[in-house]
Amino acid sequence: MSSRSSLLFLLLFLSGNAMSQKVPDFYKDVQPIIHANCVPCHRAGEAAPFPLVSYEDVHKRTKFIKKVVSSRYMPPWKADQHYNEFANDRSLTESEIGTLMAWIDGGAPKGKVDLKAENAIRARVDAGTAYKRKPDLTLRMKDAFVVKGDGTERFVMFKIPFDIASEANVEAIEFTSNNKKLVHHANFAIHPVSDPAIDLHDTGTVVDLSGPDADRYYEWVKYKKDMTYYGGWIPGATVETYPIDMGWVMPKRGVILLTVHFGPSSLDAESLNGINVFFKDSPIKRKVKVISLGSGGIGEKDISPPLMIFANEVMSFRLRIANNQPDVSLLYAWPHMHQLGKEFKAYATTAAGDTIRLVHIPAWDFRWQEIYKYKKPLLLPKGAVVHIEASYDNTTANPMNPHSPPELVMSTGNMRSDQEMMTLMLMYVERDPDDDNLVFQWQ
Ligand code: HEC
Repeated sequence: MSSRSSLLFLLLFLSGNAMSQKVPDFYKDVQPIIHANCVPCHRAGEAAPFPLVSYEDVHKRTKFIKKVVSSRYMPPWKADQHYNEFANDRSLTESEIGTLMAWIDGGAPKGKVDLKAENAIRARVDAGTAYKRKPDLTLRMKDAFVVKGDGTERFVMFKIPFDIASEANVEAIEFTSNNKKLVHHANFAIHPVSDPAIDLHDTGTVVDLSGPDADRYYEWVKYKKDMTYYGGWIPGATVETYPIDMGWVMPKRGVILLTVHFGPSSLDAESLNGINVFFKDSPIKRKVKVISLGSGGIGEKDISPPLMIFANEVMSFRLRIANNQPDVSLLYAWPHMHQLGKEFKAYATTAAGDTIRLVHIPAWDFRWQEIYKYKKPLLLPKGAVVHIEASYDNTTANPMNPHSPPELVMSTGNMRSDQEMMTLMLMYVERDPDDDNLVFQWQ
């Protein structure tokens, strides 16, 4: 085709397209995309700086939205989609981006109003939950913690004792906070304490791990003999739910030890955090468990070479761990590194020579972490070897480097974000032969 005829063709194509293409309807076409992929962060109380719940919220920012959506900066999604697929992939398809662009370019009209979806979101925000109903159990810190506006980051642990009428099957659980913008990430361990001789209240309720009284943490060791569950929150993470016959049992009595990593704040602000738990009557046939591999978990000492990242170097590390339990089915993978992280890959190899792809983050970004949920139970057979490969950039070329000039960085076990971690958490159940045919119904 000559350049002239191709230009003509292009013009015809464009004008034909514009004429045939109706501007999408906001409430029918645009809002469902925004609600599913943006509102988990862009609603009151969540991590993003403004809500995108109503027409007005979105209409005010169409110029920005066009920019961040077409550049794929939003929604943030860092996993390599060519490596494997996840149920909670929030990245937009080409056709979804096309719908948003066509609506914005068409003048972003309001069209016929239908407030049903946003009223439902508001009702959840008002009920203090992102889940579809009110929580059966709400546990909060006793007093709000004041995050000083001194620009320093902090790791603070909180003890939240509980003693409920009876143990209960858990359908869903979520981390809650009056202000998630202060929180970089949070982890919680649920420790059952059935021995009535152990007092749940005779110890402190807060320990600042970055402060001079960090050792008071040892007062809580008496609660830590058992752990029922370990969960967490990172920006964008919402409710954690389990398939109908899976879950775990909330013990009758015990403590939650909640670790909150507060980012640097420039103003004094109060933080009041806790968890909501949703119970179900149906029996739990398959118990959900969590395992942590690497820094702060199993195999920390086997990271090779030892996790020391020398100044001005880009370094790679690996860890291999065999699954010596029976076959398991994985529900999700949760990779974790800090600011020097560059790439993270995890897979498993079997004796038969197969490779099971777990997760690959080609361009790690500390700000956008995720709990990656599988679509179907992923078989990790007995004897399979889990491989974790991670690389770190401790040079001045890394704009996230917390040290200038670069310094030696290690995994010191205190989880400070200017030190490093190489961790993979896996949530799993024991394998059931029917798992080959099961598709998870994530919330
Ligand atoms: C995982 C949480 C998360 C999701 C999902 C998400 N955002 Fe964001 N968004 C943020 C945070 C946090 C910021 C502020 C920090 C920043 O701009 O990097 C932000 C910033 C923005 C900005 C302002 C950018 C700027 O340059 O100031 C726009 C516009 C935006 N988001 C639109 C969207 C849209 C549209 C979607 C869905 C298609 C979306 N976001 C999904 C967390 C999220």
